[in-house]
Amino acid sequence: AQANKSKLKFAGIDGVPNTVDDVVVPKGYNWQPVIRWGDPLFDDSAEFDPRNQTPESQAGQFGYNCDYVDILEIPGSKGKRAVLFSNHEYTNENLMFPPDMDISQVRRTAMAAHGLSVVELERKGTGQPWKYVRGAKLNRRFLMDTKYELTGPAAGSPLLKTQADPSGRIVLGTQNNCAGGTTPWGTILSGEENFNQYFKVTNPSGEQRRYGLTSRNPSRGWHLEETRFDLDLPEGRNEDNRFGWIVEVDPFDPDSTPRKHTALGRFKHEGANVTIAASGHAVAYSGDDERFDYLYKFVSKGRYIEGDKKHNMTLLTEGDLYVASFSGNSPQNQIDGSGVLPSDGAFDGTGRWIQLTRDGKSLVPDMEIDQVLVYTRLAADKMGATKMDRPEDVEVSPHTGKVYVACTNNTARSAAQADEANPRANNRHGHVVELTENGDQAATEFTWKLVLVAGDPAADESVYFSGYPADQVQPVSCPDNLAFDSAGNLWISTDGQPGTIQRNDALYRVTMEGPEYGRVEQFMAVPIDAETCGPLIHDEDGLVFVAVQHPGEDGSWDAPRSLFPDYVTPGSTPRKGDAALPRPSVIQMYRGRR
Ligand code: FEO
Ligand code: CA
Ligand code: CA
Ligand code: CA
Repeated sequence: AQANKSKLKFAGIDGVPNTVDDVVVPKGYNWQPVIRWGDPLFDDSAEFDPRNQTPESQAGQFGYNCDYVDILEIPGSKGKRAVLFSNHEYTNENLMFPPDMDISQVRRTAMAAHGLSVVELERKGTGQPWKYVRGAKLNRRFLMDTKYELTGPAAGSPLLKTQADPSGRIVLGTQNNCAGGTTPWGTILSGEENFNQYFKVTNPSGEQRRYGLTSRNPSRGWHLEETRFDLDLPEGRNEDNRFGWIVEVDPFDPDSTPRKHTALGRFKHEGANVTIAASGHAVAYSGDDERFDYLYKFVSKGRYIEGDKKHNMTLLTEGDLYVASFSGNSPQNQIDGSGVLPSDGAFDGTGRWIQLTRDGKSLVPDMEIDQVLVYTRLAADKMGATKMDRPEDVEVSPHTGKVYVACTNNTARSAAQADEANPRANNRHGHVVELTENGDQAATEFTWKLVLVAGDPAADESVYFSGYPADQVQPVSCPDNLAFDSAGNLWISTDGQPGTIQRNDALYRVTMEGPEYGRVEQFMAVPIDAETCGPLIHDEDGLVFVAVQHPGEDGSWDAPRSLFPDYVTPGSTPRKGDAALPRPSVIQMYRGRR
């Protein structure tokens, strides 16, 4: 029997030591960047000039620390033209700028390296690697002065009004966008994650503390450039409430106004992924990436209409928000120092979706609808949702409709806090939960099981690969982003392996059907200190893409630990556009020569 139905054939690679500054791919494969930090997007953009980057030059170039990636074919282009979306989570100023650069220039340039990018790609034909097209008409940078419209029940709420925006409906910019998702109607969702880091506040309120705002001074110093980031000033009041949302962008319309959807709630959104229920409702799943935070789902009021993009783009503006509660089904769990050992031998059980909002009204005692949506974490606390081990990406299998949740790790969980869905104390390696809705995707009850309990099988007998012999699988740690290929295989990228298993972060394929169910194969590893983000598997096209985020993060301008992806070394003559410093990039991998 054929082991795996994917058209992408490869021999899995071994784990790569965490000292290697290279992209490692399977035998017979090669890789090259699609686009790098600093690549000019527009005809009039400045060339990348690392010693002399300015806010103006960066505003015309691809941003830093790319995370989510999708590539959508431009209709009618016969596979020769596509549009790439990526977001730029954060900046590593110590790697990006010479130490003697003016501090205000550093801050404002770093600000322009945040946000989102849309870039057109072209190639000779199907199966070929892509090149980005400078000056193409869909190319767009979304910067900190780009206008975003707030939609949904909390738009216009007093909690969202600021001195500069008394309407409470127009926000400037997005930051710390992590993962994302592409909707069935061809728009892109992007999650605002650790937005708290950008705000200065001397005495955070209870709500602000619940969102991680502290009196520590924000290291990027944006509050010294724009007063709205200083919450102690009248100009800053409520500005923090305008971040932490799911953003929707139409990459095919460069004049469109991006939106922030309040109906999906405010938290540290890793991202969001939408599927259409049998009933026609759009269902969006989203994880709140914080230790002991929650898994959410949104069910649209309206129904999807195939081909009606204008209508479908209204679906995320109105609907009901739910948060997940998990129960284990093992009658007598043993709890020891390492956590829960289920007495029935399986980490599994049932669950329910606790409804927080209905028809634009709050179902949470003593909270109005805008409070539930702006302070969603507090609403979920009140309703007794299950505290998870940092839920990151949530993906729905297009083959089975089952939902997969990457819980990346949680070293703060004690044995007494372990439960069957988060079974480990000091969970350094994370796990992946599979959730099966009871019937329609919009159902309020589900069953669940853990399909992967990550870690080193040689060192830890609780490591579990869906029953696949653990001694035949190499260690996997800290699952972060998930993706599916056209054959229904689950792909997992990681964030944290250098610290937990002393290997570079990587991308794995997990067989989800047939006799090899649970088999894990490593496809690639990213360079030293980097995180593997945004995996995108175009297996029928023979292409795999990842965003290589923060390569050489533990180095500095004067002592770089990575020279990815240009690998310009001292004394060599760089090709035009190359530079001798690490550059976060979207790369493509394919069989054949570079
Ligand atoms: Fe930005 Fe949750 O990783
Ligand atoms: Ca069980
Ligand atoms: Ca992530
Ligand atoms: Ca992460």
